Amino acid sequence: MDRIELNRAKVFKGEFSPPPDKSISHRSVIFSSLAKGTSTVRNFLRAEDTFSTMNAFRSLGIEIIDEGATLTIHGKGVRGLSEPGDVIDCGNSGTTIRLLSGVLAGNPFFSVLTGDRSLRTRPMGRVIRPLSLMGAHIIARDDSRYPPLAIKGGNLSPITYVMPVASAQVKSALLLAGLYTEGDMEIVEPVRSRDHSEKMLPAFGADITVDGLRITVRGGRELRALDTLVPGDFSSAAFFIVAALLIPGAEITAKNVGLNPTRTGLLEVLKNMGASIGIGNVRDVSGEPVADLFCKGRADLKGVSISGEIVPSLIDEFPILCVAAALAEGTTVIRGAEELRVKESDRIKTMTAELRKMGVAIEEYPDGLSIRGTGKLHGAEVESHGDHRIAMSMAVAALAAGGRTVINGASAVDISFPGFFDLIGRLSS
Ligand code: S3P
Repeated sequence: MDRIELNRAKVFKGEFSPPPDKSISHRSVIFSSLAKGTSTVRNFLRAEDTFSTMNAFRSLGIEIIDEGATLTIHGKGVRGLSEPGDVIDCGNSGTTIRLLSGVLAGNPFFSVLTGDRSLRTRPMGRVIRPLSLMGAHIIARDDSRYPPLAIKGGNLSPITYVMPVASAQVKSALLLAGLYTEGDMEIVEPVRSRDHSEKMLPAFGADITVDGLRITVRGGRELRALDTLVPGDFSSAAFFIVAALLIPGAEITAKNVGLNPTRTGLLEVLKNMGASIGIGNVRDVSGEPVADLFCKGRADLKGVSISGEIVPSLIDEFPILCVAAALAEGTTVIRGAEELRVKESDRIKTMTAELRKMGVAIEEYPDGLSIRGTGKLHGAEVESHGDHRIAMSMAVAALAAGGRTVINGASAVDISFPGFFDLIGRLSS
């Protein structure tokens, strides 16, 4: 299944529920493992990334019973983890390695974190520096830049840390490390990034206050067990929302989609491009807004400029936004998005290379790209670069392109969305 062939979609119709939210699934396993007592996680994302987190906590001595969609986690308390007997493999998952670094920094034992070839090129200085200031001993490859990381934690002191980049992974690592201090730890974000940790941790009993971009965590407290129901992942639904906008006659309903405002910048951008996306049945699931979305194609989209504060709220949606921009009228300019260069692939470089193969005029900037909408794409042989979101974005481009497209490395979708191609098949037949 590593090579997939797709043709232009003649129909694209139906209802679906996206897979469970990846960020919330990771966090529910981490927080439940650190809570005292038995927690459950319903609608847990069963994908490679979240299994990396589950396996990591098992190797730290936590019993996790996996009964399909529900996990039962016998947490042992903030200080209940034990030294792993082997290196922990975080696979492709940046969220696993960075959040775990924060937890392990607080634990007085030795651990080593590594990952796949992509993860071993992703910057870790951003977590190592503040955790070291708190008192953890961490060394890593290439002058403490890249995994593997070796950690000997314990005896952390709270600090005030002004974050140089907006990153929910760094923020969450520091919040977790803050649980292991005796005092008030302050984290200041440059721009708000996804806020699942600061919303979920208080529900587990953590003492956290948020004042604008300043987050304070008071250490020395226990977490209590909690049952979490994971909403559907907006970032996964995004591929189908954009596909529907780009395919003439398309009509889809995405059900049970998480709409946390720190995640949904893409909806605002698509609206500015001229799309109209219906939102109904808004409700609350585990403290997160959830709704059903309705989209129709083909929308007459117009190019837009994107930069500044909105960027973190659509950081994972830029690859699919590039596809929408390629089929819009006029030029779309994305700036201030240099973080895209350090994701599962360098997404500025990979999207530029792959969309060019389909006939799109794109220019790369150090911090973004400009895409001249062509109104049409032609099929080509493209690569996922081992990046799930590139594979899925190119699949959507293929559905809207003339001719046949081959996607090499298509199994990368299993990182966050197993069954992605089956769903494409169901909606387009
Ligand atoms: C995530 C945060 C984001 C995002 C990633 C998931 C999280 O990364 O791109 O897919 O769950 O905290 P950064 O924190 O590096 O921006």
